[in-house]
Amino acid sequence: MDQHSSFAIGQKITLTIEDIGFGGEGIGRSGEFVVFVPFVIVGEVVAVELTEVKKRFGRARLVQVLQASPDRVSPQCRYFGDCGGCQYQHIDYALQLRLKHKQIVDLFERVGGFAKPPIDAVVPCPQPYGYRNRIMIRSQWDKFKKGLNIGFIRADNRLVVDLDECKIAEPALNEQIRHVRLNPPPKGGLKVVLRVPPEGWEVPRDSFFQNNFFLLPRLVDAVRERLRQSGSRFLIDAYCGVGFFSLELADLVERYLGVEIDSAAIKAARRNAISRGKPNGEFLAGRTEELLAEMLAKFDPRATTLILDPPRTGCPPDMLKLLRQLRPAQVLYVSCHPATLARDLNVLCADGVFDLTKIVPLDMFPQTQHVECVSDLRAPCSLERSKVTTHDGELSEEPEAPGTGRPEVCPTKA
Ligand SMILES: C[S@@+](CC[C@H](N)C(=O)[O-])C[C@H]1O[C@@H](n2cnc3c(N)ncnc32)[C@H](O)[C@@H]1O
Repeated sequence: MDQHSSFAIGQKITLTIEDIGFGGEGIGRSGEFVVFVPFVIVGEVVAVELTEVKKRFGRARLVQVLQASPDRVSPQCRYFGDCGGCQYQHIDYALQLRLKHKQIVDLFERVGGFAKPPIDAVVPCPQPYGYRNRIMIRSQWDKFKKGLNIGFIRADNRLVVDLDECKIAEPALNEQIRHVRLNPPPKGGLKVVLRVPPEGWEVPRDSFFQNNFFLLPRLVDAVRERLRQSGSRFLIDAYCGVGFFSLELADLVERYLGVEIDSAAIKAARRNAISRGKPNGEFLAGRTEELLAEMLAKFDPRATTLILDPPRTGCPPDMLKLLRQLRPAQVLYVSCHPATLARDLNVLCADGVFDLTKIVPLDMFPQTQHVECVSDLRAPCSLERSKVTTHDGELSEEPEAPGTGRPEVCPTKA
């Protein structure tokens, strides 16, 4: 027991759930003591058992739902609750969408510092189960049953839950799971990526591709619409993978330029550009943070859109600082992690260097805590470049973007 708390691990208490935080845990209180508990819904009264106790908060496992929400539904998957893949199968899908919207608003207010963030309703996935086109299966030796567990990491520890199907995966992947189980690896420690390849794209075995084909057209529409509105003539696609956004949008711009660290993906992007008939651009292998200044210098920033689609950790601080100085007319930041997105947009938008004009959330990951967001930032033309402050508040004389001589007028704003 924590010396400052009157609660103890193993203690059973009753809670009313007040909120569901980003990550999926419900939040309830016993007096001043805050308790986080998974697999619950706002308004429910639940009996829980404390599994972790700190001074002011604790964690618990759900023992019984005493008063169920009308939005509670039966999970489709028999491993739900044990497997760490899904957090929301017990919640009606329409409520999952509203919940994700509220979580994004909360993060943008709390972490992003935006008073009234312009966030659209979450775009639903037309197929809330059976949508994932890529999964990673692990094998782990179970010394108690003296056999292999083959499946995903558990919800409550790093062990592997043994499973023979995944309800959010495409049916073809469940066939592949059965194949892995029929031909088990000789020992534990194996990770196998199973995927359904996208039609019309070359994707190397270990390279990234968007993992929900059912909502992908809506993701492209969202980015396309924002790019079209900007009137930009040039596109820089940072963290471009196999060239997905560049090549989907190449017809809207005169030139595109993509950058990606995965050299196999970049080689595939070049071949995808040929096979998809999009010759008006090129792909560079390397780190975005090292090549971005050079890439932005190739185009007039007043007519340039930069797509940022980094891994879930977001963008490095120095790169955000650089972007505040170089200020392309539009930044379309695509992210599957609203918390790091809110953190990075807080930096980019400080002192009005960029305006956040729109966030379009898309439910690329139904039944899970994850959600994709497309955010549209514009560099206001009224801001004098020579007076842009650094994010730490110092006034800086901004260097001219190399080779551009950017004027203060901004003719391409929507
Ligand atoms: C979320 S994926 C986006 C891929 C692509 N935009 C798409 O839609 O298919 C992030 C990509 O960033 C790449 N990446 C990670 N760190 C990078 C870096 N420092 N510079 C460039 N690319 C990086 C990864 O290899 C991965 O392909």
